[in-house]
Amino acid sequence: MRLRFHYPAQFAARIERQGDINMRLTVLILLCGLFLVPASPAQQETPSLMPLPASLQMGSGQLAIDPSFTVSLSGPPDARLERAVHRFLEQLRRQTGMVALDMKTVHEAGELAIQIDGVAREIPELGEDESYSLIVTSNGATLRAPTTLGAMHGLQTFLQLVRITPQGFATPAVSIQDKPRFPWRGLMIDSGRHFMPLDMIRRNLDGMEAVKLNVLHWHLSENQGFRVESKKFPKLQEMGSDGLFYTQAEIRDIIAYAADRGIRVMPEFDMPGHSTAWFVGYPELASAPGPYEIERHWGVFDPAMDPTKESTYKFLDTFIAEMAGLFPDKYFHIGGDEVNGKQWDGNPQIQQFLRTHNIKDNADLQAQFNTRVQKIVSKYGKLMMGWDEILRPDLPKNIVVQSWRGQESLADAVKQGYSGILSSGYYIDLMQPAASHYAVDPLSGAAASLSPEEQKRILGGETTMWAEWVSPENVDSRIWPRTAAIAERFWSPQSVTDVDSMYERMEVESRRLDWLDLTHNSSYLVMLRRMVGSDDIAALKTLADVSETVKGYSREELSPFPPTSLSPMNRLPDAVRVESMTARQFSLLTDQIVSGKMKLGTEVRIRSLLLRWRDNPIDLEPAAMRSSLVKEFMPLAHDLSALGSAGLQALDYLDRGERAPEDWKTEQLAMLEKIKKPTSQLELAVLPAIQKLVEAAANQPPVTP
Ligand code: ACM
Repeated sequence: MRLRFHYPAQFAARIERQGDINMRLTVLILLCGLFLVPASPAQQETPSLMPLPASLQMGSGQLAIDPSFTVSLSGPPDARLERAVHRFLEQLRRQTGMVALDMKTVHEAGELAIQIDGVAREIPELGEDESYSLIVTSNGATLRAPTTLGAMHGLQTFLQLVRITPQGFATPAVSIQDKPRFPWRGLMIDSGRHFMPLDMIRRNLDGMEAVKLNVLHWHLSENQGFRVESKKFPKLQEMGSDGLFYTQAEIRDIIAYAADRGIRVMPEFDMPGHSTAWFVGYPELASAPGPYEIERHWGVFDPAMDPTKESTYKFLDTFIAEMAGLFPDKYFHIGGDEVNGKQWDGNPQIQQFLRTHNIKDNADLQAQFNTRVQKIVSKYGKLMMGWDEILRPDLPKNIVVQSWRGQESLADAVKQGYSGILSSGYYIDLMQPAASHYAVDPLSGAAASLSPEEQKRILGGETTMWAEWVSPENVDSRIWPRTAAIAERFWSPQSVTDVDSMYERMEVESRRLDWLDLTHNSSYLVMLRRMVGSDDIAALKTLADVSETVKGYSREELSPFPPTSLSPMNRLPDAVRVESMTARQFSLLTDQIVSGKMKLGTEVRIRSLLLRWRDNPIDLEPAAMRSSLVKEFMPLAHDLSALGSAGLQALDYLDRGERAPEDWKTEQLAMLEKIKKPTSQLELAVLPAIQKLVEAAANQPPVTP
């Protein structure tokens, strides 16, 4: 049974008065147990959907999900939709423990009646109709869509509607009309830097389907690895992958798996830079003599293809023909980013080529290379895509530019008549909070002043999971749940911007994504247990729950060892969540105190957290004695302890209504400044809230006698 807090208004008024938060509060908290009353079952809560649909109206009542639940399909026969319905039923059974799975479950008079007008192409394409309408009443549900794709999206919405109620599992009565805002909603997975096994790709495709993403951009070659089997040039994978590559049969399986979920798979083969792994087997492609080895470090490196040799284009022609046959998607990504030009500067033949052909600089040389590659890509029926460095007016207008260096390059591209997608702002490898990504809109910034015609050429966006700092074990936790919030940005109306609502719904979606075997939540505990060497992880979890890995590109310089692709990823910075929800909750609680609007129970919760933080070094010591992986972070535990003590002292001043002395404030602020400068790859996410408490204690009006 769901319970809600109700307490009399005079208590509420009283506890909102700042200063009146002393011991009497504890009595109130005990008293509040007397006012626990069950919520009215008739009350309809807005369902926690992510992405939010274009339009949603709540009805009254609910549709029970019980063992008699069935689905009916009408419209043209559609094997893919039938498979989707079977997966839907499996998922529904997993969520509710009910629902039969035999073929009879999909028959004529279903509680959920699905009706499509037409069958979508087996392999999804950009710009197909993905709309649907879903109407749920207490008698049944109707899902209508122009094609397979909309019906599949509607099934995902239905799964998100299912909830446990006092009467059992049910879907609230709703009327939803839905369609995406952008046709290109992607996740880029970098299998080049760290190889990602097939089960990682599959479970992430499941996650993408759940939040209505429709493009897997697969980054398949890097300095650190070439990851696809080429039958034409087998030394690419034989010598450039450490044996970690996908066979062509495996690639075809993944493409089919993705297509079944309405997801396109676009390959990226980065060229002419980011290509050392190609040169291990084929050094003649490079602009300097070999031999080459697979790169183990991170960064931008000198090796680049030789754009002046006809043999390079002959190779690429054969290679692209092979890959264009393997990947059915219309778009073919050639990378094109971060060519430092050093090998070109150091090669006398290339320098002579520049003079002979009157080529001004390396950027122009790369533009010539792109023009040649574009012709090859086009010859094999594909449209070329590249990072924003490829943007040059001499390329045909049907290429797509992927903006990563800022929103300006996207606006520039579409002004020049190109199409583009936005990734700047969606770099999930940089460990930024969900809110910062959520604030970025493909049509904001420089794009906001474009004409409607120009804005139409902004096709959407992609999050990018660059893989320097992820292993198959922790990668899901860097993708999810933040990618669900970004998916909402790509799908839902531009007016959907409420950050608190996003966080609430993202947390709910995060739990649902667990049911797809994504490991973003489960790997955390597994990794903490391994670090401690036992199940007794309470103390380490207290520290880990409030720690965040340093943001942006600063992690490498704070690494205690030179990080390489062979470094273990088993330390606390690899395990902790990108965004500490404990810190977010704590900050919301301390805001209540600082604003003088404290709710019942807040101070007790704050104090209990602060005490645990203060005592963390003592609690953690036994594990630190056993494990070097824990010991490494004892200094961080001591910092957390200092924050806990400062917070407790600040609360004491606030409770007494006594302004904290100047020298106390100076001392605390100095301590906070010291802790702010990260000395490990972790930072304490509760620090800003503690600082607010300290400042509130020091800035209280002096007590009037
Ligand atoms: C990139 O992040 N180098 C595209």
